[in-house]
Amino acid sequence: MLKFDVLVIGSGGAGMRAALEAGRQGNLSVALMTKMFPTRSATGMAQGGINGVLRNADPNDSLEKHIFDTVKGSDFLGDQDAIEFFCNYAPECINEIDYFGVPFSRDAQGRIAQRNFGGQSSPRTCYSADKTGHVILHTMFEQCLKHGVKILKEMQLLDLVVDQGELQGIVALDIQSGEIMPVMAKAVVIATGGAGRMYWFRTTNPFTSTGDGMAAAFRAGIPLKDPEMVQFHPTGLASTGILMSEAVRGEGGYLINKDGERFMQRYAPEKMELATRDVVAKGIETEIKEGRGFGEGVNAYVLADLRHLGKETILEKLHGIRDLAISFEHVDPLSEPIPIRPTCHYSMGGIDVIDHTRCATAITGVFAAGEASCISIHGANRLGGNSLADIMVFGKFAGRGATECARQRQFGGQTKLAEAAKLWQDRFNQAVSRQEGVTVASLRNRLADIMWNNVGIFRNEADMLAAQKVIDGLIAEYQTCKVGDSSKLFNTAFVNYVEMGNLLTIAKAVVLGAIHRQESRGCHLRDDYTERDDRNFLQHTLVTLESGQYKLSYRPVVITKYQPAERRY
Ligand code: FUM
Repeated sequence: MLKFDVLVIGSGGAGMRAALEAGRQGNLSVALMTKMFPTRSATGMAQGGINGVLRNADPNDSLEKHIFDTVKGSDFLGDQDAIEFFCNYAPECINEIDYFGVPFSRDAQGRIAQRNFGGQSSPRTCYSADKTGHVILHTMFEQCLKHGVKILKEMQLLDLVVDQGELQGIVALDIQSGEIMPVMAKAVVIATGGAGRMYWFRTTNPFTSTGDGMAAAFRAGIPLKDPEMVQFHPTGLASTGILMSEAVRGEGGYLINKDGERFMQRYAPEKMELATRDVVAKGIETEIKEGRGFGEGVNAYVLADLRHLGKETILEKLHGIRDLAISFEHVDPLSEPIPIRPTCHYSMGGIDVIDHTRCATAITGVFAAGEASCISIHGANRLGGNSLADIMVFGKFAGRGATECARQRQFGGQTKLAEAAKLWQDRFNQAVSRQEGVTVASLRNRLADIMWNNVGIFRNEADMLAAQKVIDGLIAEYQTCKVGDSSKLFNTAFVNYVEMGNLLTIAKAVVLGAIHRQESRGCHLRDDYTERDDRNFLQHTLVTLESGQYKLSYRPVVITKYQPAERRY
């Protein structure tokens, strides 16, 4: 049986940073498991930059300002103790990755360049043109290899194995060989990213963002915190949902409607396009709904206009965006505006972390970091640029937490692990032998339709109750759906089947949390409860699986310095 002191699952920035930290401690066996190849993760969809107070572009920036911007951006749902911890460590973590070799863009003095991003009171987003996530991923991978981290690629997480509140290991599918195997581990870091693919055709996320780690943790008894908080990035390409980085707005791009008007003056007169994502997404959707957009249906859009920025800025700082606009919308931003519409981008909610200094969950041996986790520093709306900082800060502390934990534990649980692997083997045999039933693709398309139409940017009770019914129906159909391939080697149809189950598991929690949060806060915009309600909902939603049933409870938000106030941008 494979065994590791520290097993990190997920090879985005958080996972690789955690594995690197554990690998640097020495004397421990550390593995990084991923269903893909380590550099191909959603971290590459956070291109505009990473936030930290370096004071390179603005000597008057301060930690206090970063903390307040993040608290306000979260619409006061972020835990303020965790936000303080995060902002305090972000600069150190950025300098560290600069030293590791991240090729940051530089200012005239040779310091790391910083740009504006939405909801910030100073330009503090450090960037590498418009490819920041991509270069961080590659640098982290090099560092993991340097520090002896064992890479287990093309391995799909199936379940965590827990005995009496203590982790024993996991069950995984080796996609290459088809073997379903138990893996022993003293500590596991779940860093498997978000579940944006529940909105399948309108998301910036890669096809692999299917909430595998969130769903496994949920089945193991860890609550999902604030699952209803799903961020819609304002500027997805109209026809595909592909990310046009916030660098578009950060560098001064305009958003215009069909009358050529910079409509953000209606929604955020001071910050305009540089308001937070929730505010800008709401503005765009309102324009479309009220007939001031272009086109119809899911591909309706407004325009992002970069022409006034000039050729030099676009070619130097936004060349990735230009390439995407040319390839997918057939427009060159040097001479034409880009059709854009909000697109699902990020799960603020996720695995309930109860100690942010170690990224520990309620199960001994299980840690979580990155988008899979909810710590909670992003609350009801994440600031652009805070996710790359989040994964560098909390990836590091999760790696440390897991290392300390592994040092204190013994390997165990062989019998439980073997039993869990056998259950999955039986499930594989059954699923691949079914000749009848709906296809995974049909379930996926219907899930995406109902999520976009009924649990999208604007929400209300009637729509969400209807969505709940549809999702319950899809879950019932899933039990007897057809995989369509019974081979062992590279059975990606079976992988898609597992992922579909995870998406349905998470979607049900999203809808449950959203129905019961009877207020509008951050990205959670309700037509039937249009105001924020601090009296009843200054609380985190917790969705827990108990005897197969979803249970809802609440936990108060941690407030240190900043009492909730009305947000204006
Ligand atoms: O728009 C972007 O470049 C994405 C950044 C982020 O999600 O932090």
